[in-house]
Amino acid sequence: MRLDPRLGGAAALRLLLAAHVVAAFEPITVGIAIGAASALTGYLSYKDLYCRFAECCRSERPLNASALKQDLEEKLFGQHLATEVILKALTGFKNNKNPKKPLTLSLHGWAGTGKNFVSQIVAENLHPKGLKSNFVHLFVSTLHFPHEQHIKLYQDQLQRWIRGNVSACAGSVFIFDEMDKLHPGVIDAIKPFLDYYEQIDGVSYRKAIFIFLSNAGGDLITKTALDFWRAGRKREDIQLKDLEAVLSVGVFNNKHSGLWHSGLIDRNLIDYFIPFLPLEYRHVKMCVRAEMKARGSAIDEDVVTRVAEEMTFFPKDEKIYSDKGCKTVQSRLDFY
Ligand SMILES: Nc1ncnc2c1ncn2[C@@H]1O[C@H](COP(=O)(O)OP(=O)(O)OP(=O)(O)O)[C@@H](O)[C@H]1O
Ligand SMILES: [Mg+2]
Repeated sequence: MRLDPRLGGAAALRLLLAAHVVAAFEPITVGIAIGAASALTGYLSYKDLYCRFAECCRSERPLNASALKQDLEEKLFGQHLATEVILKALTGFKNNKNPKKPLTLSLHGWAGTGKNFVSQIVAENLHPKGLKSNFVHLFVSTLHFPHEQHIKLYQDQLQRWIRGNVSACAGSVFIFDEMDKLHPGVIDAIKPFLDYYEQIDGVSYRKAIFIFLSNAGGDLITKTALDFWRAGRKREDIQLKDLEAVLSVGVFNNKHSGLWHSGLIDRNLIDYFIPFLPLEYRHVKMCVRAEMKARGSAIDEDVVTRVAEEMTFFPKDEKIYSDKGCKTVQSRLDFY
């Protein structure tokens, strides 16, 4: 087969995509197509070219740690601990050529403090399409696993889903939202995947990432932050160790944490517990400004103050922390 050198890029792409579809059936055709594509492009490999037009799983691609750092520092407000731990966890994991188990992160904190927001940032830094990527999967307890009587079915489906997706892309990301509303039995189903096995039925789960989100422990994290505030100490001085004991009570011994008795904690299968601090008035203002910027409007400090003042703050006397964090900022801004 000879190819006309005047063949355009679109034709080359069609050829390539067609080659991908028949890959399982006709190695000779695929070989010819790859050769043709290389001849056309001169320098791009088959994979490079294919991945320009379709989403590819690139588990081996190194993490751009400075891009992640910049994202977290610029976009995530008031969460110095989460920023530090997430950065450390992900760079460590992605730099390790042979991780012994998948990375498991458990994010805890009050409503609207940025847990879903961070998961989105993390997802985008691992797979450019973020939550829309075929390699990022979000499960919401109340949506996907609502009925206690169907646990057996959920376990089965979840195991099959995870196995199938990790087989297709080793670096798949699984996010479990509302862990505090999840029956621990459901999580039991994925326990083997989180463990230190080399392979299970021919599939290795060691490059996958599991992220659990919950409000469990949020009240106790808030109490610690409040103690610091009342003692006149800076929020940024709160250290991980100040919260470890707190999390152990709020999460490990809390029947509603979703992790309780799931065995994940006993077996040390969670690599990092990540606390999210409650957001203050100044952080809410930062969220309003960020939202204005995202909408392409000029920042009007008058509106920023008005939106922030509409939010409710607690405790009753001091009114330091936003009840809903930054959660309703976007909808409130619609009124201005
Ligand atoms: N710390 C933060 N920095 C910047 N923006 C934030 C932060 N926290 C929340 N936001 C903004 O508020 C929105 C809602 O936050 P998010 O959904 O991440 O809260 P959450 O912690 O998951 O809350 P919940 O526990 O109620 O699910 C985000 O999409 C983001 O725009
Ligand atoms: Mg959330």
